[in-house]
Amino acid sequence: MKLLSPIFLSGNGTSRSLNCPVLQSPLAGVSDQIFRKFVRRWSPKALLFTEMVNAKSLELGHGAEKVIELSEESGPIGVQLFDHRPDSMIDAAIKAELSGAFLIDINMGCPVKKIARKGGGSALLKEPELAQLIVKQVSKAISIPLTVKIRLGWDETTADPVSFALGLQEAGAQLITVHGRTRKQGFSGNANWEAISKIKKSLDIPIIANGDIKNSRDAIECLKITNADGVMIGRASMGAPWLVGQIDAEINNQKTFIPPDAKMKINLSLEHLKLLISKKGNHGLLIARKHMNWTCRGFQGASTLRQKLVRANSPNEAIKLLEEELIKFN
Ligand SMILES: Cc1cc2nc3c(=O)[nH]c(=O)nc-3n(C[C@H](O)[C@H](O)[C@H](O)COP(=O)(O)O)c2cc1C
Repeated sequence: MKLLSPIFLSGNGTSRSLNCPVLQSPLAGVSDQIFRKFVRRWSPKALLFTEMVNAKSLELGHGAEKVIELSEESGPIGVQLFDHRPDSMIDAAIKAELSGAFLIDINMGCPVKKIARKGGGSALLKEPELAQLIVKQVSKAISIPLTVKIRLGWDETTADPVSFALGLQEAGAQLITVHGRTRKQGFSGNANWEAISKIKKSLDIPIIANGDIKNSRDAIECLKITNADGVMIGRASMGAPWLVGQIDAEINNQKTFIPPDAKMKINLSLEHLKLLISKKGNHGLLIARKHMNWTCRGFQGASTLRQKLVRANSPNEAIKLLEEELIKFN
């Protein structure tokens, strides 16, 4: 595969370059600071995103923990905001920039009813003028680049993704990520990479293709079909924080990437669990359960270990289970 070029984005005063064509998607409930720390271990240069942040809450001073420690993290981190009120978006974007955001991304794809009903996320796909107004006003208010993440439209009958994306480009968006499904599709069916290719053909700004990329084979196929400037990895990276780094290495023909074996996966789960407990106390175990359940797969005894971990009643019990499992490798 031909090497993809770095992506240059010029904000309203600050230019940024993306030196890795594989991006880690924003994942609510997953892509917190601890998860990003692990993704970063394998992907020093990739653009990672915060979980989506409610702009109105940030404006009112809540939810700041999602953006507050960005300057302590290495590598580029985009802050993703959602809302439909330009003023809240401006205020939150300025706060995120001050906290060290590499860029601001606006969520125009989230299908969750609670968010869309209030006019945010995918509801903006039905309001192209409001979507453009938000992009225009926010991009003027910040000095870092503004990007947008969209779906193909609200539903198949009304979707006009090329016009929608052109409107965002005209309003000042510096890059658009496209999840190749409509809001109505949710996560059903296959992502429509052909539709992403039409957007890529019609726009001048960089386009990132997203949807159903699980490995480097998918990434290469998706890039061939869409001719996109990069790919974004979502669900397949849950429990696999090495995947963005692995896909990047493989599409660049680097033979050096060694995917984690059983021992590394168990060690990773233990580290994740301990970090969550030290940050969140006993509640950390509840959050760690899903990560451990995703990570402890694909090796002998994984299923038994997962069943035991789910039943662990205390952080210490879960730690002991993982430590005992590790002894088997000595
Ligand atoms: C648990 C979960 C949380 C998500 N949270 C966000 C989010 O906060 N912001 C966003 O733009 N998309 C979010 N998405 C959508 C993903 O970023 C991505 O666009 C979608 O999963 C398609 O890509 P994939 O097939 O690689 O998973 C989320 C998806 C999942 C499954």
